Amino acid sequence: MPILPIYVYDQPVLRRRAKPVRGIDGALTKLTEDMFETMHSANGIGLAANQVGSLQRIVVVDLSVTEEWKDTKPLVLLNPEVVRQEGEVTMEEGCLSLPDIRDEVDRAETITVRFLDLEFRQQELTASGLLARVCMHEIDHLNGVLFFDHLGPLKRKLLNGRLNRLKNGDMEVDYPVVGAIYVPADPAVPKGPPSE
Ligand code: NI
Repeated sequence: MPILPIYVYDQPVLRRRAKPVRGIDGALTKLTEDMFETMHSANGIGLAANQVGSLQRIVVVDLSVTEEWKDTKPLVLLNPEVVRQEGEVTMEEGCLSLPDIRDEVDRAETITVRFLDLEFRQQELTASGLLARVCMHEIDHLNGVLFFDHLGPLKRKLLNGRLNRLKNGDMEVDYPVVGAIYVPADPAVPKGPPSE
């Protein structure tokens, strides 16, 4: 299974709305497998198809690298939508398409997501904490939204320097990317917190 390059800011595919999946075939199954491998190798816990250059409404999530969620199974969500949400909570987010940028974002605390699984059966998942957070972050990707879009003007301003470097392709990233400079990770350097 190949590792796919991840599109980083400001690649246009990240700002486009992905289209609903209409059925399952070998190519789609293969893409989800490649997305898992790509996400795992980049120390990610969630990945949307836009981030690997595909405009299909596909999200993969695997929180099992984190201590709190280590017993949770990986998830594939096709055509996911939030059908219920409750409360509000602030949590720090990072994004594989926005390397080296993290910030605190306010979002719903508990959500119910309706989606199709890899057998094209409708499922509903009610989640809070990190799982809810990752699902909302990834569904945003499918709609062309990036996490910093939720920040107020002051926080946005503080990120401008890094965003401009990314925009200019002047950022080193330790996983294969489109739109920045790929410099393989030094295995002696510990990994930072996981990103989405
Ligand atoms: Ni992301």
